[in-house]
Parts: sequence; structure tokens; C-alpha cells
Amino acid sequence: MRIPVVAGNWKLYKTGSEGADFVERLAASIGPIEGVEVIVAPTFTALPEVAIAARPYGIQVAAQDVFWKEEGAFTGEVAPHMLKAVGAGWVIIGHSERRQYFGETDETVALKVRAALDAGLRPIVCVGETESERMSGATEDVLRRQVSRGLASMQAAEIPNLTVAYEPVWAIGTGRTATVEQAQEACAFIRGLIASFHGNEAAAQVRILYGGSIKPDNAAGLMGQADIDGGLVGGASLEVESFADIIRQSQPTTS
Ligand code: PGA
Repeated sequence: MRIPVVAGNWKLYKTGSEGADFVERLAASIGPIEGVEVIVAPTFTALPEVAIAARPYGIQVAAQDVFWKEEGAFTGEVAPHMLKAVGAGWVIIGHSERRQYFGETDETVALKVRAALDAGLRPIVCVGETESERMSGATEDVLRRQVSRGLASMQAAEIPNLTVAYEPVWAIGTGRTATVEQAQEACAFIRGLIASFHGNEAAAQVRILYGGSIKPDNAAGLMGQADIDGGLVGGASLEVESFADIIRQSQPTTS
């Protein structure tokens, strides 16, 4: 069975020392981690300190982005092996804020996914429709385009190392969570797309997360859906108690 993943996307919050302090307090709150993979995604500069603090507790660390080249004249970029070197095991790719504000496209997502896998990083690839796309009935077309182009560089054998995050743009940071039916329907659709591209076995293995205004009071319903294998949590991952609460609700034994 698929082990649930709960990932905290800290965005542009927390220095290294603040993040390290956070994981100490998180570990104290949740105790031993069983049946769920817990990840925090700090900024690049906070990664080394947070990774060192997190390791003893089995809390894993993700970067929020990556470049697709190993080295070269690319001012401001960070290469996959550099993330590995500071203890990141995962990387978020194609978050809607990167698509919206920093020119990320499905094509650059595909390059980053390829580079991340080649370096042994596990990608969390974000997809999701805007409000106007949903209103106009284009949700499935958008997801089909993002999944087919964004994952174009992957082979079926690599799919178990992939995590997809379905994050409807209208639900991110807005407090307007998708209903459990909307979230389940979209995650099932994404799983079906992966089955059509890579076969049923790969589709059964890929983990698909929901993201967008997950809070302690809506997490259990979302995590209980057949095709939702965890969550990508923004705002509620910045406070220990709310993030710990969401993690507890994602553990199969307690939910
Ligand atoms: P949110 O962010 O939980 O604050 O809506 C989710 C995300 O952007 O990954």
C-alpha cells in the first residue's frame, strides 16, 4: 500500500535556526513517526541547518525548487546535487507560485523532474487549475496538459519515486479548501492519467497529495479519500500544533 506523505511547504518563511527549532518542537509533539512520511520544505539557505536538526527524528527535508543543470554560468540557480549535499531528499517542482510569478512552464518542470531523478532526489510535482479554468470546465484539460508535459521526461520504472500534488490554485492560501469530492475526483483523474501513460502498476504506486488550505479541521476528510495519499500544507505547516495535528490525522493507524 502507498505510505501517506505530509509535506510542509514553508515558502518564504523561517531562517535556518527558526526551522531547526521548529523541527525539534514538532518531533516532541508528534513522538515517533509511524506509517507516514513527514517532510518540511524550508528556503534554500535554511536547508542545511534544518536537515541536520530533522535527521534524528526521521523528518525529511525538501527544497522548494531546483535548476536542471549540474553546474555552469547560471547566476542564482541551485543544482540537484547541491541540494543532496546539504541533506535534501526531496524537491517541490512546479508549484503554482513559481508558475505564476517566476515563469515556470510545463517544459521547465519536465527538465527539473529529469534532473532531480538523475540526482536521486524525489520530486513532488505540483499541478492544478485556476479558478477561471475550473469555472469554464477546463480542469481536466489543464491537469492532462500539466501531467503529460510536466512528466514527459519520466519512464514507467521511475514512477514509484514520483509524488504528485494536486493543488487547485484557487484553494492555495485562500482558506477555500476544495471539497473532499472535488479533491478526490481530481486526484483520481490524475491517477488515471498516469495509468494511461505508464500503466496500471505505476498508477497504483504513485502518491498523489492534495494541497490548498489544508487545516486541522479538514485534514481527516481529505486524507480519508481513496486516491489522496497525503497533503502538501502551506500556512498550517508554519505552526507546530496545526502541522502536528494534520500529521496525526494522516497516520493510517489513528485516522
Ligand atoms: P496553503 O498552501 O496550505 O497555505 O493553501 C499550500 C501550498 O501552497 O502548497
